[in-house]
Amino acid sequence: MSLKRLLIGSIFLTAATISQAQKTTAYHEPYRPQVHFSPKKWWTNDPNGMVYYKGTYHLFFQHYPKATVWGPMHWGHATSKDLVHWTQQPIALYPDKLGYIFSGSVVVDERNTSGLGTKDKPAMVAIFTHHDPKGEKGGSSTYQNESIAYSLDEGLTWKKYPGNPVLKNPGIKDFRDPKVFWYDEGNKWVMSLATKDRITFYSSPNLKDWTKESEFGQSLGAHGGVWECPDLFPLQLNGKQYWVLLVSINPGGPNKGSATQYFVGHFDGKTFTPVSTKTKWIDYGPDDYAGVTWGNTGKRKVFLGWMGNWLYANEVPTKVWRNAMTVPRDLSLTLAAGDIYLRSEPVPEMGKIANGTIKVDAEQLVKNNNIFSVIKQRPGQFTLKFKTKAAKDYSVILSNDGGEKLVIGFDAAKNRYYIDRSASGQKQFSKQFTNAGYAPRLSTMLDSDMELVVDQSSVEVFADGGLSNLTAVFFPRKPYNKLSLVNHGMEIEHLQIQPLKSIW
Ligand code: FRU
Repeated sequence: MSLKRLLIGSIFLTAATISQAQKTTAYHEPYRPQVHFSPKKWWTNDPNGMVYYKGTYHLFFQHYPKATVWGPMHWGHATSKDLVHWTQQPIALYPDKLGYIFSGSVVVDERNTSGLGTKDKPAMVAIFTHHDPKGEKGGSSTYQNESIAYSLDEGLTWKKYPGNPVLKNPGIKDFRDPKVFWYDEGNKWVMSLATKDRITFYSSPNLKDWTKESEFGQSLGAHGGVWECPDLFPLQLNGKQYWVLLVSINPGGPNKGSATQYFVGHFDGKTFTPVSTKTKWIDYGPDDYAGVTWGNTGKRKVFLGWMGNWLYANEVPTKVWRNAMTVPRDLSLTLAAGDIYLRSEPVPEMGKIANGTIKVDAEQLVKNNNIFSVIKQRPGQFTLKFKTKAAKDYSVILSNDGGEKLVIGFDAAKNRYYIDRSASGQKQFSKQFTNAGYAPRLSTMLDSDMELVVDQSSVEVFADGGLSNLTAVFFPRKPYNKLSLVNHGMEIEHLQIQPLKSIW
């Protein structure tokens, strides 16, 4: 069988399966992500409370279970055994008289420091922001406070702690998104909290009494918007331990609106000291926000972001549900261009849903005129492997018969990667829906391969070996059915196509 036929054969099967399902099943509506978590119904934004416990990955999420727009926030809940297949669970936390349930984290209190469980049956403790909408409207500056809730049945049901809030607002309007971890060297819990234009670190012996330790970042990093959703965690580089601090910022991202910056440095239990003052972004694309990492995963650090941007997340043209998460990404540190960078790569668990692998070498690409007219096997992971590190202009184009296209590529003159969604499909839902996103090529010494994770309405681009990434959503009127390459002198080793099976 010729390669082209092989492509066509495998593609038809997937397309047929999806269109059959479309008629009957939830999770197969137009634009519904097939390899990313999205709630079965209604609204989501930030991932929350990500923790691994007893063989299960927990993912809580900002959720409004009455509409497909942002509203009184609850914590939705989903679980997974493999980071890929998700089961939605009952809502974990409902708003109450102290307010909406904003973002936060979950820890497993193995030492029973809180007294909320026992050593044999430790409590899972959620630390979250209570956001009082009445206080906000009434002009108070103390309407965001930190509270806790606990679960004694592995996250299924939750009780709020009667002594809430456990950390009272000292008079800072933006005082939210606590991310807590056990700092073993200091035998205490450490909380990173977003406090307007900086991160404030607190510590506690028992998750109930919190002491301020230090502040970071008032004059460092990007400040085009308010700081939100921090995460502090250690990672090794060449046998040495560093600490990474993620800070989301909205607006003020490199491509307008929401984005997540990071700092690499040292942490001594009290103070975070960066090793470099350069502003770096975990993902430059318009649609990766509020991401943090799973707790309790040992040395491994797995990140998940919200595939949305506050500029237009309430208006994207989906029905039934609105918004989804990125694919989980393994994080590591790399030395490049004289600095330390964070590397992101899709977790290898994605291989579980791979539906075979097709490698198209340079010769075949030329024979096919660089066009694959029946690439209906979205979702898929596509890797363009190049022979040389030098980067010349090239682009990958996903398109449909209606003339809509999404262009992803490299611009050598500007030394940057780009996503161009100016002709990608529906855009009329919001004037704020940006046409393009750019990410710098950080060094000519880096790997020039490009990896794409393409789903029904999103693409995640991993470039520079995962140091320079772009995530974007798009809404074609008809699914893209063609993938083509425009190549201005890159020496291609192969294009690897890995169709992915739906997780639903
Ligand atoms: C970030 C954020 C958080 C807040 C939550 C509210 O996207 O604004 O700071 O806790 O969303 O839904």
